Amino acid sequence: MYAQLVKTDSDRIRGADEMSPEERAFQERIDRGEKIEPKEWMPEGYRKTLIRQIGQHAHSEIVGQLPEGNWITRAPTLERKAILLAKVQDEAGHGLYLYCAAETLGVSRDELIELLHAGKMKYSSIFNYPTLTWADMGAVGWLVDGAAIMNQVPLQRTSYGPYSRAMIRICKEESFHQRQGYDIMMKMARGTPAQKAMAQDALNRFWYPALMMFGPSDKDSVHSAQSMAWKIKMNTNDELRQKFVDQTVPQAEYLGLTVPDENLRWNEEKGGYDFSEPDWSEFFDVIAGNGPCNRERLGARVKAWEDGAWFRDGLKAYADKASARRSAVAIAAE
Ligand code: 3HC
Repeated sequence: MYAQLVKTDSDRIRGADEMSPEERAFQERIDRGEKIEPKEWMPEGYRKTLIRQIGQHAHSEIVGQLPEGNWITRAPTLERKAILLAKVQDEAGHGLYLYCAAETLGVSRDELIELLHAGKMKYSSIFNYPTLTWADMGAVGWLVDGAAIMNQVPLQRTSYGPYSRAMIRICKEESFHQRQGYDIMMKMARGTPAQKAMAQDALNRFWYPALMMFGPSDKDSVHSAQSMAWKIKMNTNDELRQKFVDQTVPQAEYLGLTVPDENLRWNEEKGGYDFSEPDWSEFFDVIAGNGPCNRERLGARVKAWEDGAWFRDGLKAYADKASARRSAVAIAAE
């Protein structure tokens, strides 16, 4: 069951002559920009790729609550605490929309969660890094939510209807998240020298992990070509990474902070910055489960699931009882 869900046959694009008439008609709909809806026919690879990507995305939203949730009790003011609390709650909502979108493809939320807990489904690499200081709340909002938006704005036009509609709402909320992060960075960067140093340190630690969020370079991306042909993805990983760097460098300059990359240069010819690639061996190590916080993050999710068993059992017992009562009333009325 796990293998069936996780392994996709999307790694190779099939030519029109290799497609069945149904597949050809499906591809033509995608090419015309039509949305695909849950009950409609779709190739198995399309369905599995969506379950993988949407499921991973949902897990990222939920696991992504942990590094920031860690700072709610230590926020420096009541206002900052209220804002952070709202943001972390938003991430739970994003996870729920996305699990619901995945469920329309015939997989249950419980199955997806089981795959996550068994280490058979991924979540974003970024959440395996620790948040050490309050400035990290700024860097996460600014860079992590900033990278998430860069990836997710195009996904509002993705070909699968429920995913596309979930992304519209998520992107609105992510913009608020990014602005609250940048606001923290402005306060820190314009504060005391010690506060500015904290902001710079947070940028130093989060810059390359944020670049990794877009996935491996295009030459190592297994799924991009087919996912783009199906308009599940709208851009390649490198295209979005470049756009993110071009957008973020002037924001760092405005803060008076230095991007930790001595190769960073404006390239007039390409109309964008040249920049250093992240350390890809670190990225592959993190997604293989060996990042600084992988075990802690997964452990926290498994514990939350186990601690919540009594509540789910209670809900189920009530639902079973209510349904038995409805059946009894229906029989009595006959
Ligand atoms: N973290 C973990 N795994 C990653 C990754 C990352 N940053 N980038 C790529 N991978 C994995 C892929 O899942 C794939 O592994 P798999 O075959 O076992 O699933 C492998 O690395 C090869 O990468 P590909 O480029 O071939 O994979 P994709 O075509 O799926 O592209 C992606 C990766 C760009 C992340 C794409 O899946 C995507 O756009 N996903 C939707 C967006 C998403 O998931 N965002 C999460 C960000 S966090 C967030 O939104 C929370 C917010 O609150 C900040």
